[in-house]
Amino acid sequence: MTLDDLIYKPGLLNGERILVTGGGTGLGRVMSEALLMLGATVYICGRRGPVVEQTAQELMAAHGGRVVPLVCDIRDDASILGLLDTIWADGGALTGLINNAAGNFVSRTEDLSPRAFDAIANIVFRGSFYMTLECGKRWLAEGRKASVISILTTWVWNGSPFTVPSAMSKAGLHAMTQSLAVEWSGRGIRFNAIAPGLFPTEGMSARLNPQGGEHQVEGNPMGRNGRMPELANLAVFLMGPGAEYINGQTIAIDGAQFQATGGNFASLAAWTDADWQRARQNIQRRNAA
Ligand code: HXC
Repeated sequence: MTLDDLIYKPGLLNGERILVTGGGTGLGRVMSEALLMLGATVYICGRRGPVVEQTAQELMAAHGGRVVPLVCDIRDDASILGLLDTIWADGGALTGLINNAAGNFVSRTEDLSPRAFDAIANIVFRGSFYMTLECGKRWLAEGRKASVISILTTWVWNGSPFTVPSAMSKAGLHAMTQSLAVEWSGRGIRFNAIAPGLFPTEGMSARLNPQGGEHQVEGNPMGRNGRMPELANLAVFLMGPGAEYINGQTIAIDGAQFQATGGNFASLAAWTDADWQRARQNIQRRNAA
């Protein structure tokens, strides 16, 4: 990505200090790159140290600036507290948080165990809430302004068969966005969310398109998937200083796919038992890799 891909003036985010959970890969990496290019100090966290370290090196080599890679499993409360202590000790309060880390896989709901539900919900729902809560407590105690973005999906409006733990968890974060936008914005902390359509990433393809093949674009009115700079531009818009009156909103960026199709996995109802077995094996093989 170059500055020409972004629609903002250089230096727009100078002095900002922003944490992107799951910032080492996929959408989180793209948003981190844009924040860095516009002058923010970017903290990226993930479960795998080498992944976040490599991303930080690559982004700084490409654009200069400062990306700080940190290991954190947002399912673990102590890990979150340790992460925030490290960041606050490294130059003071964050000015922004992007709740991007997620987990998901397609499965018939009747095949899920409680642990399978927890594997998703403890990242997306509980982990993102607890990260937000601990940042919020610090911001409120210090009287700081801050901006929080959560990465959701259009399923928050219509649910999603075959990815029910994700749909439930993301809907919970949608409610968090609306609720805290009211509760905390009088004290300077605003909340918005992004509901991306298909922006193919490796993690998403392995778990949501485990049979392989091209991601469907024919259901999309614009006949294409999202382009990463488009997502980055929206994240900067919501995070940055130019549009602070936007608060409590979940904004879709999907080429109107939601309006056209509902944007979920309803078509998987046609899969056979053998298809589901193959999907599960493919997902678990990728998880083990
Ligand atoms: C049924 C499954 C399963 C599957 C795992 N389980 N895969 N059940 N079908 N395909 C069950 C297991 O049997 C086990 O339950 C439980 O889930 C936990 O399994 P683990 O392998 O121990 O899980 P874990 O190591 O925690 O890893 C799961 C994960 C992982 C956290 C979700 O895949 C991961 O790291 N994902 C991060 C990246 C990712 O998912 N990216 C895609 C995000 S896309 P039992 O009871 O058997 O022990 C997204 C939005 C997309 O979020 C929007 C598109 C528009």
